[in-house]
Amino acid sequence: MTKVIDIKDVSWKRQGKTILSDVSWKVAKGEHWAVLGLNGAGKTTILNMINGYIWPTTGKVSVLDQPFGKTDIRELRKSIGWVSSSLQERIKGTGYAEDVVVSGKYASIGLYEDPTETDFQKAAQIMEQVGCSYLTGRTYQTCSQGERQKILIARGLMAEPELLILDEPTNGLDFISREDLMSAINQLAMQKDAPTIVFVTHHIEEILPVFSHTLLLRNGTVFDHGESKAVLTSERLSNFFVTPVNVEWRRDRPWMTLKG
Ligand SMILES: Nc1ncnc2c1ncn2[C@@H]1O[C@H](COP(=O)(O)OP(=O)(O)O)[C@@H](O)[C@H]1O
Ligand SMILES: [Mg+2]
Repeated sequence: MTKVIDIKDVSWKRQGKTILSDVSWKVAKGEHWAVLGLNGAGKTTILNMINGYIWPTTGKVSVLDQPFGKTDIRELRKSIGWVSSSLQERIKGTGYAEDVVVSGKYASIGLYEDPTETDFQKAAQIMEQVGCSYLTGRTYQTCSQGERQKILIARGLMAEPELLILDEPTNGLDFISREDLMSAINQLAMQKDAPTIVFVTHHIEEILPVFSHTLLLRNGTVFDHGESKAVLTSERLSNFFVTPVNVEWRRDRPWMTLKG
């Protein structure tokens, strides 16, 4: 069975500082994971490692059954889709939504050709899947932040990745746009041919039922991991945050409040 992610005993040190220590994490095909941790916990650092942008100081990383050190990272990156809120600023806003989506094909292969009619048909199909086909013909610039995130997710899917990484995609969204984006992600994840999704957040209530597993990261180490229902309890999260909290599951989603 494909191990989508297999990280073993990984540490990463920079300028004498240990950023990650003793991180082990396995993601199997068929699972979707949420990664939860406060600012600075090391979430993005782990994602950078999965993408081969940084190299572990010690330990082993293997992605899509390809052990790093024995594989062509640039080739592997074609199978990984990546969306973050910082990506938004790097996208040129003058094109139409569908142009931005189509450009995802070239982002992964690193060379540009004129897009074909087939590329646009595929983009249209993906935009439908992600619930943003109504944005066709709109310039990216005129789209709201939440709409832009949907366009960027569609763009990330254009190269048919096996792994889709969403690094705090809901950053800066108001609560309506956030719910709307979450439901688009949920819908995508439930599809049979969906890529494995890793969804990074620091908001517990964003862990939708489709995220079967959760990784809790704290100070560069794995605090806990496993099935979301087992991990996201009042007791475990109180220990995790070193603050008494109450977790209540409503409509199959966890909601957290401070205790007392
Ligand atoms: N290239 C780097 N050099 C030194 N420190 C870094 C570097 N990248 C990240 N860090 C530090 O590592 C910690 C984890 O960062 P990050 O992975 O971005 O956290 P998160 O995404 O969970 O908010 C932070 O303290 C950050 O300042
Ligand atoms: Mg981050």
